Amino acid sequence: MVWSGTVESQPLLMFLHERTDDDTEALAEAKEKFKNQWVKLPLKTCNNCYVKTHLRSAYSTVIPTRSCIRQSIASGGKLTIKPSSWFFRRNLASEILHPSRSGSFSHARLSVLNNLLSRLLLNKSEPVTVVDHFQYAMFALLVLMCFGDKLDDQQIKQIETVLRTLLLSQPRFDVLNFWPRLSKIVFRNRLKELVKLRRDAEDVLIPLIRSRIEARKRQDSMVAYVDTLTGLQLPDEGNRSLTEGEMVSLCEEFVNAGTDTTSNALQWIMANLVKYPKIQAKLYKEISSILGPPPRPPVTSDAMAAAKEEDVERMPYLKAVVLEGLRRHPPGHYVLPHMVTEEVELGGYVVPKGAQVNFTVAEIGSDPEVWEDPMSFRPERFMSGGKEGFDVTGNKEIKMMPFGAGRRICPAWNLALLHLGYYVANLVWYFQWTAVDGDDVDLSEKLEFTVVMKHPLQAHVSPRCQG
Ligand code: HEM
Repeated sequence: MVWSGTVESQPLLMFLHERTDDDTEALAEAKEKFKNQWVKLPLKTCNNCYVKTHLRSAYSTVIPTRSCIRQSIASGGKLTIKPSSWFFRRNLASEILHPSRSGSFSHARLSVLNNLLSRLLLNKSEPVTVVDHFQYAMFALLVLMCFGDKLDDQQIKQIETVLRTLLLSQPRFDVLNFWPRLSKIVFRNRLKELVKLRRDAEDVLIPLIRSRIEARKRQDSMVAYVDTLTGLQLPDEGNRSLTEGEMVSLCEEFVNAGTDTTSNALQWIMANLVKYPKIQAKLYKEISSILGPPPRPPVTSDAMAAAKEEDVERMPYLKAVVLEGLRRHPPGHYVLPHMVTEEVELGGYVVPKGAQVNFTVAEIGSDPEVWEDPMSFRPERFMSGGKEGFDVTGNKEIKMMPFGAGRRICPAWNLALLHLGYYVANLVWYFQWTAVDGDDVDLSEKLEFTVVMKHPLQAHVSPRCQG
């Protein structure tokens, strides 16, 4: 395990020659051991490399990479498409995630908000552990965007059961991706289990896809993700249409990619607002100066007493709170692993072809050379960005990269910012959030699929309008 870096100390690379079960621990250990030391790479080949750099060019031109997603055998070898290919990415970006589409999902956002407010109110006298409510809300929202907004709570819960089970058991099946021919035989019972889970998911999702196709014929005005898939023709495969199994995989990717990331970011932001009541008060002041005093939750009529997308646009402090949350607690401490497609030199060191590169997102966002007092939660630092605001995509310069940067940046970064702004605004407008007596909100982290709060946030949630 070796640290290395340039003379100017711009990029910081760590190569892990031996893959450990827990790279996070290994990283922390290595950082401690090699504090501020630059060690020459003794070996040319490595399989795992961690890069910390603010150099924009590193994310596209200097390190030519592609996402390192192994062919999944979750469908028993049936999965023939790579959901991350440019073709699907383009479809997703232009047909669903483009800002011009965001209005068509406002009904879904509102119905999820209503449900969330009601759930938070269920047991008024007790502190609420919010993470499950946030996770369900973000899941439900993406399901509605995926299959259309006519699904009821029971159907959403059924989808949650099959997709979460599949997702949460994924680590058990990782072994099947190494030498698949052999591992399929050695771990045949595990493979059987995986195929069954996948079949369960298909049994629930395929009928939904079919009924969505029927609903579309009746001209439902909202465009759901499934609608965009039914019309797709694969140019590299004789313009054939997607199979239902392939649609299931893409829907699964859509819902899974956005659920834990957004709900955890939401939890981190709310945790800081509970921990720092002055910041919450300042935010509430901004929200109520635009919307007026809040009504009693939940939102009952279509007159919709809720902060809307266009209101969120007019709240600079809200945007600053969201950005500070993403800087201080990026849901992923690394972007997806990327694989170097050709040997390349970075800061005087060779990154060999085939190496797996991980960009250290959390360290980039808390670099004391770039951020003043980086560990404190101070949304004001984002208030001086001028009219155009802060560039979170790193197009101009990379100061932080919670969504990645360059060609592979999260295609939904815009939507994620909208969702975070929308739900934070409404949660703070309707409720005062206070810490449980004697509890100093603990911001320790724990690695799951994303980096989560080790001690999930508990808070008293009191409606601001008592009338
Ligand atoms: C706060 C919320 C979110 C964060 C922090 C986040 C972050 C990221 C990051 C870091 C990546 C990897 C980028 C790379 O490989 O360089 C990624 C990829 C991706 N994200 Fe997000 N994301 C969020 C929300 C969402 C949502 C709501 C959706 C879907 C609707 C989504 C869909 C995707 C997809 C499909 C990819 C894979 C793209 C590809 O392989 O080309 N994300 N996201």
